[in-house]
Amino acid sequence: MTTALITGSTAGIGAAFARRLAADGHDLVLVARDTRRLREQATELHDRHGIEVEVLTADLSEDKGIETVADRLGDRRNPVDLLVNNAGFGNKGRYLEVPMADELRMLKVHCEAVLRLTSAATEAMRERGRGGVVNVASVAAFVPRGTYGASKAWVVQFTQGAAKDLAGSGVRLMALCPGFVRTEFHQRAGMGTDNIPGWMWLDADKLVAAALSDLARGKSLSIPDPRYKALMGLVKVTPRGLLGGVTSRTGRKYGPQ
Ligand SMILES: NC(=O)c1ccc[n+]([C@@H]2O[C@H](COP(=O)([O-])OP(=O)(O)OC[C@H]3O[C@@H](n4cnc5c(N)ncnc54)[C@H](OP(=O)(O)O)[C@@H]3O)[C@@H](O)[C@H]2O)c1
Repeated sequence: MTTALITGSTAGIGAAFARRLAADGHDLVLVARDTRRLREQATELHDRHGIEVEVLTADLSEDKGIETVADRLGDRRNPVDLLVNNAGFGNKGRYLEVPMADELRMLKVHCEAVLRLTSAATEAMRERGRGGVVNVASVAAFVPRGTYGASKAWVVQFTQGAAKDLAGSGVRLMALCPGFVRTEFHQRAGMGTDNIPGWMWLDADKLVAAALSDLARGKSLSIPDPRYKALMGLVKVTPRGLLGGVTSRTGRKYGPQ
């Protein structure tokens, strides 16, 4: 039996990881801030799939929350075989419209927590000679797109670099770059989604299936959909000034709300 720890497990992409890994028979450690929601999710997954589920209430924008999860990942008696660093959020607005405290909170959750949790997990995994880490980034990593895009670019660079450094150790790391996925993300950030064309939306369960298949194949970067693979190919050859203009005009708001 193997154990997977998922941050931000109670909604959206994290919940899809939890459903899929539970169905595959993995025990789970679920992490988020809302304890009631975590407990309900744990009971449902245990009852449906007969797996063991622990819950950890932790706010990853605080040192205490990061330390709680890092301690669990470092517990050599109850090893974690797969870490999914998924917790994240968006801030609505252009540069200087977003309060500095919110920008810093984003860097703490998207970068510092990911660095510290990946390190706690991979140290223990390297000792055992096996394990995996999926760090959820975004296709926003590839376009100039404020602190959000910059933080996700850091996730991609960090993960691919660490994957190279740990090559041959039995520990795999992969950055996952979704496009738009229907979750609670946009609503929580107060972003309207009416202007986003239907074809750009991905299904969270299909995204997770493709991501886990990419991890099994040893990829260090996963862009799990042909539409977004093509789009990112286009982005690579588009001048950055032009890309920046487009994302600045949308103002990271997408539509009125
Ligand atoms: N949806 C998209 O279009 C999209 C596209 C590309 C990338 N992504 C990335 O995918 C990841 C998951 O996003 P999602 O769309 O699934 O979002 P979501 O539906 O809003 O779910 C976010 C999850 O993260 C948890 N969370 C948020 N802040 C946290 C904190 N400070 N500490 C601990 N847990 C926290 C939430 O639970 P609590 O509120 O209880 O803590 C929730 O379980 C994020 O990293 C996001 O950047 C999303």
